[in-house]
Amino acid sequence: MTSPVSDSKRDRVIIFDTTMRDGEQSPGASMSLEEKLELAKILEEMGVDVIEAGFPIASNGDFEAVREVSKIVTESTVAGLCRAHQVDIDRCHEAIKHAKRGRIHIVIATSPLHMKHKLQMEPEAVLEAITKSVGHARNLCGDVEWSAEDATRSERDFLRRAIETAIKAGATTINLPDTVGYTYPSEYADLFKYMVENVEGADKAIFSTHCHNDLGLAVANSLAGVQGGARQVECAVNGLGERAGNAALEEIVMALKVRGDQLPYETGIVTQHITRASRYVSAITGFPVQFNKAIVGKNAFSHESGIHQDGMLKNRETYEIMRPEDVGQGATNLVMGKHSGRHAFREKLKGLGYELGQNALNEAFGRFKDLADKKKHVFDDDIIALVDDALARG
Ligand code: KIV
Ligand code: ZN
Repeated sequence: MTSPVSDSKRDRVIIFDTTMRDGEQSPGASMSLEEKLELAKILEEMGVDVIEAGFPIASNGDFEAVREVSKIVTESTVAGLCRAHQVDIDRCHEAIKHAKRGRIHIVIATSPLHMKHKLQMEPEAVLEAITKSVGHARNLCGDVEWSAEDATRSERDFLRRAIETAIKAGATTINLPDTVGYTYPSEYADLFKYMVENVEGADKAIFSTHCHNDLGLAVANSLAGVQGGARQVECAVNGLGERAGNAALEEIVMALKVRGDQLPYETGIVTQHITRASRYVSAITGFPVQFNKAIVGKNAFSHESGIHQDGMLKNRETYEIMRPEDVGQGATNLVMGKHSGRHAFREKLKGLGYELGQNALNEAFGRFKDLADKKKHVFDDDIIALVDDALARG
């Protein structure tokens, strides 16, 4: 059997977006069909490799969303999620069969806790279900992903056997989710390294991360997974997802781009589209993006303190490790507030059309500081008014 993993994919990280599936499982984040179709277009234009558009057996709405997304997307692979049941897989296949590139994504739990209490299945029965379900899916579709739910709390040797079973049955992607956001970066890196080195047939599949953010470690863990050998990262725009969410797509992509010296892997993401995607997801879900959110937050490229503004005016690299334009955030914002210094104030005035002499500048700057102490936001109009007043007084 020839390997489905071409060598060219080895130094690239596949970005798998699950905003419409895991993201939509976030209470209150449901999306209409029209919104999902628009989001699919945005994700495709942004260069996302795999778009997980829903869980077709879950509802008619989810089925329809996966089917309709499959019809309009041509560049990205479209995936649908299913449990390890024939009926789920058939329904998923029915939805993705229209896609130019479709993927069936099967999940079954492998941790002792989940197998005993949730599935109420013996480990050997889980292995049998993997063989049957993955084999069935592979007869329908050449691209089959298998996920070991709660992989990070699974027994290592059983997990290894489960992965080998899935690969033998035809899985082309092996996903090891940190379903409850429990793992640590070093532990997750080690898990991938161990599996890549010890699983028989590991070279026939791409390993994937899927991290939840319960301890705020989802992005760090995903990157650690890549360090350990994963070449697909599952993530969601704005970190949307069950409970505390998934790894944030924008953070993964920019961490790989900015720190290529640490992890020399490319993604196919056109990063200038990131902010557009973030704003769209926020608008349709009604989930606001926190001001200080990395990459896409309103304050991610804003500077208020005098020392920082002075540094920025001399060389932007003093306080910016990436350019706002590179993520579609417009321009750097030097916010005028009580921490701002004279240098930034003079530049602000220049931008507003004023060139003041030293005395007038000192006078206006003093008034500006008094105002900024009283007011949370000092707008351009406030500055214009106080400068005009200072000039009128001579
Ligand atoms: O968190 C998880 O385990 C999942 C799987 C369905 C991949 O979302
Ligand atoms: Zn998940």
